[in-house]
Amino acid sequence: MFAASRIQARAFSASARQLSKVTVLGAAGGIGQPLSLLLKMNPRVTELSLYDIRQGPGVAADVSHVNTKSTVKGYQPDDTGAGLGEALKGSEVVLIPAGVPRKPGMTRDDLFNTNASIVRDLAKACAEHCPEANLLIISNPVNSTVPICREVFKARGVYNPKRLFGVTTLDVVRASRFVSEIKGTDPTEEKITVVGGHSGVTIVPLFSQSKHPDLSSNAELVKRVQFGGDEVVKAKDGAGSATLSMAMAGARMADSVLRAIGGEKGVVEPTFVESPLYKDQGIDFFSSKVELGPSGVEKILPVGELDANETQLLEACVGDLKKNIEKGVAFLASNP
Ligand code: NAD
Ligand code: LMR
Repeated sequence: MFAASRIQARAFSASARQLSKVTVLGAAGGIGQPLSLLLKMNPRVTELSLYDIRQGPGVAADVSHVNTKSTVKGYQPDDTGAGLGEALKGSEVVLIPAGVPRKPGMTRDDLFNTNASIVRDLAKACAEHCPEANLLIISNPVNSTVPICREVFKARGVYNPKRLFGVTTLDVVRASRFVSEIKGTDPTEEKITVVGGHSGVTIVPLFSQSKHPDLSSNAELVKRVQFGGDEVVKAKDGAGSATLSMAMAGARMADSVLRAIGGEKGVVEPTFVESPLYKDQGIDFFSSKVELGPSGVEKILPVGELDANETQLLEACVGDLKKNIEKGVAFLASNP
């Protein structure tokens, strides 16, 4: 390569790195709207692309008046179906909170019948228009929707396990807050590891690894972390599930991915990824602490030592998790 074009190539890659298009699919929903606002406040986001089957442009017009530098564009399906493709092209990060939320009495798995096909179709569009983007799946049941995305990408020959993430950040956000309430501490200083999946007993908090190992035997607290989502569903009384705390958690995860893309070292988040940790038990996906890098997943950190209580919790987790993952894979096999 000539020196001049080398310099040009370097200059291009430097500016390309600074351009971070982030897309939200389901941007007009309960999570989508506050998430879009938080992303607009993030200086790492240079272009915000907001898609929903309804009101994508409306939400975009509103958020676009916030006086930060990023540009905002809104999309909804058009007659040619081009809206979604335009929304996705060039995306570095795509967050997917599209789908229905729970009502009291439902499990996350009860959402499967509706959300599986929504996520499948959006994943197909991502595989076509931005196959190299980092995909952050929020739509429930996460334990099944993430495997669905893998199968969609695999079928098209564009699957990269380093770029597919189930967002489980809310579980550690909750755990740190609940602990701080008990101990009277600053929640930002409470780093609680939570592993497994994202529903009921598949959520396994590891208090023995925190500053308060005594909390591992606090069954009420463990249950509160596992079923924190139900608390919100019940309180909202039919109007949906966690949206504001989820938006904060999703924005944090997106920011971590962007920081790692930007070259920051040592960025670690819990997330549900294709993982070797429990593959020997037939579990392809597992949430644990993951170090992020410019190419997505850099390193999956070990679960670490568990005490007797946590060993029992993990045993309960793997049974359910395996079924949830298999359900997602089977869905795509019969509904490609
Ligand atoms: P919501 O109903 O308020 O919003 C969902 C949005 O998705 C709506 O605006 C809807 O128009 C849109 N949508 C539906 N189908 C779409 C499609 N094909 N393409 C684009 N947009 C589409 O729901 P919500 O409260 O925002 O929750 C969304 C999902 O997130 C639910 O499945 C919920 O269970 C899940 N959730 C996950 C977590 C987590 O920790 N991972 C936390 C909270 C909620
Ligand atoms: C949560 O944990 O709040 C979400 O998964 C939503 C739900 O259904 O509980």
